[in-house]
Amino acid sequence: MGGGYRRYVWTEPEAELRAWFRAEALARGLAYEVDRNGNQWAWAGDPAAGDAVVTGSHLDSVPDGGAFDGPLGVVSAFAALDLLRERGLPPGSRPLGVVAFAEEEGARFGVACLGSRLSSGLIEPARAHRLTDADGVSLAAAMERAGQDPGAIGPDPERLARIGAFVELHIEQGRALAGLGRAVGVGSVIWPHGRWRFDFRGEANHAGTTRVEDRRDPMLTYAHTVLAARKRARLAGALATFGKVAVEPGAVNAIPSLVTGWLDSRAPDGGTLDALVAGIERTAAERGGRDGVTVAVTRESHTAGVAFSAELRDRAAHRLGGAPALPTGAGHDAGILSGAVPTAMLYVRNPTGVSHAPAEHADEGDCLAGVTALADVLEGLL
Ligand code: GLV
Ligand code: MN
Ligand code: MN
Repeated sequence: MGGGYRRYVWTEPEAELRAWFRAEALARGLAYEVDRNGNQWAWAGDPAAGDAVVTGSHLDSVPDGGAFDGPLGVVSAFAALDLLRERGLPPGSRPLGVVAFAEEEGARFGVACLGSRLSSGLIEPARAHRLTDADGVSLAAAMERAGQDPGAIGPDPERLARIGAFVELHIEQGRALAGLGRAVGVGSVIWPHGRWRFDFRGEANHAGTTRVEDRRDPMLTYAHTVLAARKRARLAGALATFGKVAVEPGAVNAIPSLVTGWLDSRAPDGGTLDALVAGIERTAAERGGRDGVTVAVTRESHTAGVAFSAELRDRAAHRLGGAPALPTGAGHDAGILSGAVPTAMLYVRNPTGVSHAPAEHADEGDCLAGVTALADVLEGLL
């Protein structure tokens, strides 16, 4: 299985995308800026006038991700702006901005929606500085190498206060629209979700000579925890996924000393999510006790549940001829911003529902319908 994109923040491929965003902004005569957290902005009109309407998404990807998750929202934002200009922006319109948020997937530094989270003051800059990638490179070092001042990262309340409404268009990450025969839907809620790192620590030893009763094998504890997480989540009507694992020393003929597994868990409400993760932790600790393995759990990222602005949602749905309102388990920058700014989301049909994988797809006609829908919704706000 091959294919897919690795558009990680502050890397060479991502720099190409940043250059593309800047060129698109300048080609349209938009004012271009990069904020203190590395998020890119392009402005028609003066954002200092306030009450701005902003649209956009992100350009980064998960490892071997698809083409649409993120970029569709940014490309559609520029295309919707073009369409609005063709239609003739109403005189005295509110400022209109296009944004690309940095490190939405958290694929490099582990914290989802890092750019919007920093701007919203939902992560301490000192903690963000210490985040490291798989090669041990810190966020601060990566930013410095990319020519961005890491000392400047942090809350950006003045910038957010200029925004009166934020609309993010995104490929749907499910098949609801296909089932409804609709090209575009609007967002209703985002499930609370988070990421937890489980460190299972045992003792390295020889795979061929260590007696079974002498082993302290963290792989066993990890395997048991994965199965228990799946079962607990199913019973709770929630989701629990171990999608990333690292093993030390990683030798075929050695019992591991350390297995680190990352849990992604999501649930319809915060109470269910908390109880689910606490249950998984308990199971891991109990099993660890039997295996001679210690288990340490660190919460690396957490996002509370989000209900998008009912007013914006209803206006958008009405404007789009009664577009269906869809809940999602996927996180988005619009969800992070929703604490400070009225936000709405539009979803574009994804025939198979596959996302975070190379097969992610939306038909061209639906993408164009998405651009028109976005322009319509923005026009209603301007
Ligand atoms: C972002 O795509 C997430 O939901 O993890
Ligand atoms: Mn994603
Ligand atoms: Mn996304």
